[in-house]
Amino acid sequence: MTDMNDMINTDFSGKHAIITGAVAGIGRATAVQITQRGGDVAVVDIDTAPLESLRTELEARGRRVLAFGCDIRDEEGVRDVVRETLDRFGSVEILVNNAALWRRSLPFMQTDAAMWKRYIDVNILGTMYFTRAVLDSMLERAYGRIINIASVAGVYGIGSYVDYSMTKGAVIAFTRALAKEMTPRGVLVNCVSPGSVSDDREETGPTELSYMGRTAAHTEIANLICFIAGDGAGYIAWQNYIIDGCRKKI
Ligand SMILES: NC(=O)c1ccc[n+]([C@@H]2O[C@H](COP(=O)([O-])OP(=O)(O)OC[C@H]3O[C@@H](n4cnc5c(N)ncnc54)[C@H](O)[C@@H]3O)[C@@H](O)[C@H]2O)c1
Repeated sequence: MTDMNDMINTDFSGKHAIITGAVAGIGRATAVQITQRGGDVAVVDIDTAPLESLRTELEARGRRVLAFGCDIRDEEGVRDVVRETLDRFGSVEILVNNAALWRRSLPFMQTDAAMWKRYIDVNILGTMYFTRAVLDSMLERAYGRIINIASVAGVYGIGSYVDYSMTKGAVIAFTRALAKEMTPRGVLVNCVSPGSVSDDREETGPTELSYMGRTAAHTEIANLICFIAGDGAGYIAWQNYIIDGCRKKI
């Protein structure tokens, strides 16, 4: 039972989370924080090489950890991951749809339909496949937290990231529409939209893009994801949380 006075309750004891794109960046930081706060995690990534060492690192905290090599474009593969996670954990309370493609910067006129379709397949459809796959069990239990990672690109639009911006705008719209169906049934759906985040090697770095003058650390984005995933955030649904260090809208 949730303690309504515990406003920042992010104790994940007894909770099971699936995190996509979990071997790097924001996804990895989120997996670390959920296990630090007592949760069990299923970490999913197309990049299989680092999965085992991630599993070992997370298990060292005494948590149960499942590691899946999976391309989120593969709907059947996604269903298999969710089925096996439910078999092993018994339930899934939290889904963090974090995996995405974003690292290509090209003017729109130098992109083509094959590139757009790849971004749509991963960033939009991959998010929808995982969401659809976890919803049956979440609805059965009338409890769930789905956090979709979008981007300021989906809110402001970023030049040379036109197709990426389009996919993240879609993720925000997906979140908002789905929240209207799911909120009355106990599944809370929200979005987190980061601005510039540091690369893997640095905690934070300088940037002209925010008035704060620096990029976010992965852990700063993971802090927000964990807050929304926690029971202290039980009255929050439909939101898109922009976390961008007061970004200059350029
Ligand atoms: N880093 C930023 O500056 C920034 C800013 C705004 C939004 N975001 C969003 O935050 C999320 C995480 O960003 P990041 O910078 O940590 O990403 P990243 O590129 O460091 O990591 C993404 C992970 O997703 C995995 N992945 C990619 N395609 C996949 C697929 N088809 N199936 C399974 N896994 C796949 C990658 O292997 C990688 O481990 C993304 O949704 C991104 O769009 C990032």
